[in-house]
Amino acid sequence: MRVTIPQLQERARNGEKLAMLTCYDASFAAISDEAGVDMLLVGDSLGMVIQGHDSTLPVTMGEAEYHVRCVARGSVRALVIGDMPFGSFQQSSEAAFHNAARLMSAGANMVKLEGGAFMAKTTAFLVERGIPVCAHIGLTPQSVHTLGGYRVQGKNGEAAERLIEDAKALEGAGASIVLMEAMPAALARRVTESLHVPTIGIGAGIDVSGQVLVNYDMLDIYPGKKARFVRNFMEGAPSVKAAIAAYVKAVKDKSFPGPEHSF
Ligand code: KIV
Repeated sequence: MRVTIPQLQERARNGEKLAMLTCYDASFAAISDEAGVDMLLVGDSLGMVIQGHDSTLPVTMGEAEYHVRCVARGSVRALVIGDMPFGSFQQSSEAAFHNAARLMSAGANMVKLEGGAFMAKTTAFLVERGIPVCAHIGLTPQSVHTLGGYRVQGKNGEAAERLIEDAKALEGAGASIVLMEAMPAALARRVTESLHVPTIGIGAGIDVSGQVLVNYDMLDIYPGKKARFVRNFMEGAPSVKAAIAAYVKAVKDKSFPGPEHSF
C-alpha cells in the first residue's frame, strides 16, 4: 500500500525522520521502494543527471510526465512527487493546474513547485482543487540565473526572515511539505520550528523533518561537481539497494547529514 500524506505528517510529528530520494525510472523506483525510501521525487534534476544539460531549465512537461509515469509504475509503497518543470507553473494558476493535473494523471501523488511567498496563490489554487503541493524554497535551481549561481540562500538577517515568511505563506496556502535547499542549518531549524507541516532538507542541516538527495549524486554516478551536502553512500556498499538502504538508515538514525554536509 502506498504511504499517504497524513501518515507521513503524523510520522514526522512523532519525531521520525523522513527519507526522500530522487528517482527517474521504474527499476530505481522498485529498488528504492524496497530499500525503505518514504518519498520518491521525480526531480527536474533529471535535466542534468539523465539528459546532460548544465541546468534544470530545459526539462519539458512531456519529459517530466514520462519520468513520473516510469517511477509510478515501478513503485508500490513510496509517495511519488512530480516536479513541475520551469515554465509550467509560473505564468498563471490555471496553467499550473493544467500541468500539475498532467503529472497527477501520470501517477504523481503530489507536485513540487519552486518559489517563495509569490507562489502561495498558485499553491492554494492547486490544493483547493485536490492537488497536494510540496513547496521548494531556499536555493531554487530554476532561478539559477537570477540568483547568480548555485549559492547558499538566507545568509543575512533580511534574507533569512524572508525565507521564514515564505515558508509560513506556503504552509498557510496549503502546502503539505516544505522542501528547503542550501540554507544555513540554524535557519532551516527556525523554519521547521515555525511550521506544522514537515520540512525536507537538502543542504539544510539535521534539524528538519527529513532529507532528500539526488540518487545519481549519492550513488556516485553523476560525473559533475558534487555539492558539499552530498555523501557517497555507494562507498563500501555491496549493491545499489544496500547503498540506498544505508541512506534511509542514516536519515532515520540522524547520522546524515553531519556538520560537514551543512552550512
Ligand atoms: O530536482 C530535484 O532533484 C530537486 C531536489 C534537488 C530537491 O529539486
